[in-house]
Amino acid sequence: MRIGIIGAGNIGATLARRLPTKGHDVSVANSRGPETLDPEVTSTGARGVTAAEAVRDVDVVVLSIPQNKIPDLAPLLADLPAGTPVIDTGNYYPARDGEIDALEQGQVEGEWVSEQLGRPVVKAWNAILAGRFADAAREPGDPERIAIPVAGGDEDARRVALSLVEDTGFDAVDAGSIEESWRQQPGSPVYCTSLTAAEIPAALAAAQRDRLPRRRDLAIAVITDRAQDPTGTVDADYLTALNRLLYL
Ligand SMILES: NC(=O)c1ccc[n+]([C@@H]2O[C@H](COP(=O)([O-])OP(=O)(O)OC[C@H]3O[C@@H](n4cnc5c(N)ncnc54)[C@H](OP(=O)(O)O)[C@@H]3O)[C@@H](O)[C@H]2O)c1
Repeated sequence: MRIGIIGAGNIGATLARRLPTKGHDVSVANSRGPETLDPEVTSTGARGVTAAEAVRDVDVVVLSIPQNKIPDLAPLLADLPAGTPVIDTGNYYPARDGEIDALEQGQVEGEWVSEQLGRPVVKAWNAILAGRFADAAREPGDPERIAIPVAGGDEDARRVALSLVEDTGFDAVDAGSIEESWRQQPGSPVYCTSLTAAEIPAALAAAQRDRLPRRRDLAIAVITDRAQDPTGTVDADYLTALNRLLYL
């Protein structure tokens, strides 16, 4: 597939490195221009492009930018054909994004993104830690392969996203509509807890919507404290253990 990725940070860079290895034609953009991309991002064949070029003549667009920057992309996506799937890897963190009223009042993040862009979106790769995304890819059937939930879009768009998640080295689990995608938001049992495909359906079902923001903020408070301790490490193992303790 021809895939345009906007965002070349923790998650976008791994997407851009991994998807060409499965035969995809990948272009990738950040906010500052292709000349500023880390060469590692394009080391497996992705092309560095501008954000406008990343959404031209592609079969699917992946957005991997801070949630509060999503509205900036609406003009870019205005000319994208209606049938082209848009996949968002994003999560809302008020400490990073600033408080967004609708999200503070409980609107589902994926629905908010969809509203900002004026089109359906699929939510995928949002519930995997960047460190795990980089180091835990496994071939299908490997007993250590973990899974990623995928929600939103119409069935065709979701099928595309499920297939691309598999191509990045993780089992993909269909988590339903964008309305249901709160079940994979920060603070939920499937959020960055490294579950297997067999474990995900029960974890999605166990999510409690009104507890998500508090659990998300508890995790941030612990991580912030830990990061101030010169003897403490905050790596993917630590974050996974913390998330499992707080969210499962
Ligand atoms: N980090 C994680 O563990 C993790 C895990 C799952 C999901 N997520 C979510 O995925 C999203 C991306 O996270 P991240 O950690 O990869 O972010 P990040 O490392 O901060 O990278 C953000 C990228 O977005 C680009 N960007 C920002 N605004 C843009 C714009 N208007 N147009 C084009 N590019 C723009 C930045 O480009 P410049 O550098 O040029 O500004 C940068 O390449 C967030 O919503 C995050 O919550 C993160």
